[in-house]
Amino acid sequence: MRRRSELLFTLGDEKGPLHQRLYRRMRGLILDGSWPTGTRLPSSRALAEELGISRNTALHAIELLVADGWVRTRQGSAAFVSEQAPMPHPRLDERRPARPSPSPPVPFEMARQSANFFPRERWNALQVDLWSGADSAMLYGAGAEGWPALRRAIAAFVSGARGMSVDPDQVIVLSSTQAAIDLITRVLARSGDKVWVEDPGYPLAHQLFRTNGLTPVPVPMDAEGLRVASGMRAAPDARFAYVMPACHFPSGRSMSAARRRGLLAWARERQAWIIEDDWEWHARFDGQAVPPPLQSLSGGERVIYVQTFNRTIFPGLRLAFLIAPTMTIAETLIGTYEQMDGGPNAPLQATLARFLEEGFYAAHLRVTRAAYATRRDALLAALAELPPGFVPLPDRNGLHIVIGIPTELDDARVAAELRAAGIACMGIGEFALSYPAESGLVLGFAAFPPEELVGPAGRLIGVLRGIAAR
Ligand SMILES: Cc1ncc(COP(=O)(O)O)c(C=O)c1O
Repeated sequence: MRRRSELLFTLGDEKGPLHQRLYRRMRGLILDGSWPTGTRLPSSRALAEELGISRNTALHAIELLVADGWVRTRQGSAAFVSEQAPMPHPRLDERRPARPSPSPPVPFEMARQSANFFPRERWNALQVDLWSGADSAMLYGAGAEGWPALRRAIAAFVSGARGMSVDPDQVIVLSSTQAAIDLITRVLARSGDKVWVEDPGYPLAHQLFRTNGLTPVPVPMDAEGLRVASGMRAAPDARFAYVMPACHFPSGRSMSAARRRGLLAWARERQAWIIEDDWEWHARFDGQAVPPPLQSLSGGERVIYVQTFNRTIFPGLRLAFLIAPTMTIAETLIGTYEQMDGGPNAPLQATLARFLEEGFYAAHLRVTRAAYATRRDALLAALAELPPGFVPLPDRNGLHIVIGIPTELDDARVAAELRAAGIACMGIGEFALSYPAESGLVLGFAAFPPEELVGPAGRLIGVLRGIAAR
C-alpha cells in the first residue's frame, strides 16, 4: 500500500459523473487554500493513475477548472492555480461532508443517533398543555437570551448532571453548537486571532473559525488529549482554544486532569478564551465518572461552555446552549445576539423547559444510555472475528468505537475501500489537519439496533480480511 504522503488525494463518495466529482474535489482544494495560487496541478496522467480513472476524465475535469478561471495552462499542458482565481469563499469547504446528512443513517455512520427513543407522546402532551394554557408570552418570543424557564431548567440540569454551579442569567439558548461558536467568535475575537484546535478534530468548527476571520492552529493529540505544550510552542499567543475534553471527536478520548489544568493555566496566563464543546459527555460506557467540565474547575472563568440537545434528543430539534463564565460576558454576548437573531422558536423552548423540569429529559438520557450500551456491546461482539492486527481500541467514549489497524495500512484508504463496499466508515486520519493522527476506523453504533449491526459487521470483517490477506 502506498504511503499517505505520496497520495494526491482521494475522491469523495458523492454521486455524479466522475469528471464532475474530480472537478469539484480539485476546486475544493483551491478554495480551502490547500492549493494556493501558482500551485502546479498534478498531470492528467498522474491523476488517472492515482485515482484509477481514464486520462480523458482527468483532462475533462481540468478543462472545467480552466473554463471557470480557477486554473490556467502554460508550457504546453501544465496547469497552474490561476492568480485571477475567484476569491476563495470561506464558507465553501468541499474537502469532506462535515455535518451529517439529514437522511436516515446507514451503518456505521458516525455522529448519528437514533431518533426512535424520543418520547413523542410525552412531548406532544407537553405541547398540547402549553398551547391550551394561558401563557401567551411565548407567542411574543423568548428574547435573544432564551426562554426564562428553559434557562432556569438548564442551570438546574447542569448542576445535577455536570456538577456546575450556574446562574440562569449565564445561560444563552441557541439552535446549535455552531451558532454558539459563531456568536462567541463574533463577539470576543479580532480578525486574525489564532485558535488552537485539536488535531484531528471537528471540521465544521474549523471552517467556521476561518469564516469568522480566525486562524485555526492545529495542536497534536496523544492519549491524554490536546498537547498543551505543543500548542504553547506553535502559538503561545493564540486567543482561543476549542476543545472537546469529555469526549474528543473523532478519537473518543477524554482529556486527562493534568492537561485540563495545563490548558486552564495557559488560558489564565495569556488571557485566552477556551471554548469547551461538551460533546458526547453523556456517552460513557466504562463505568467511570464523566470528568467535570473545565468551566467548573479553578481557572474556569476563561471558559465558555457549550452543550447541544441536538445530539441527546434528536438532530432536527435545533436547540443548544452556551454558559458564559460571568454575567457580564453573558450580557455582552446577548447584546450581539439580539442584533443577529431573536433566538430559537419560543414555543419549542417552552416545551423543552417542561421536558427538563418534569424529569423527562433525565429519563430519556437513562433510556438512551442503556440502549446505546447494548448496541455498543452488540457491535463489539459482532466484531469478535476481526483479522489479526485489527483491534477495538480501549479507553474510547462516545457513540462510536474505534478499531486500530496494522501500522503499515493507511486508515483513510481502508475506510475508502470499506465505503466502496457500501459500509459507511471514516478513518481518524481523515480528520487530521497537520499532524499524523493515530490510525483507526471509526464506527458509529448509536443509530442501529443490535440486529441491524450484525450483517454490516460481517461485511466489514470480510473486506478487512481481504485487505489483511494482500
Ligand atoms: C464535536 C461536535 N460538536 C458539535 C456537533 C454538532 O452539534 P450542533 O448540531 O449542535 O451544531 C457535532 C456534530 O457532529 C460534533 O461532531
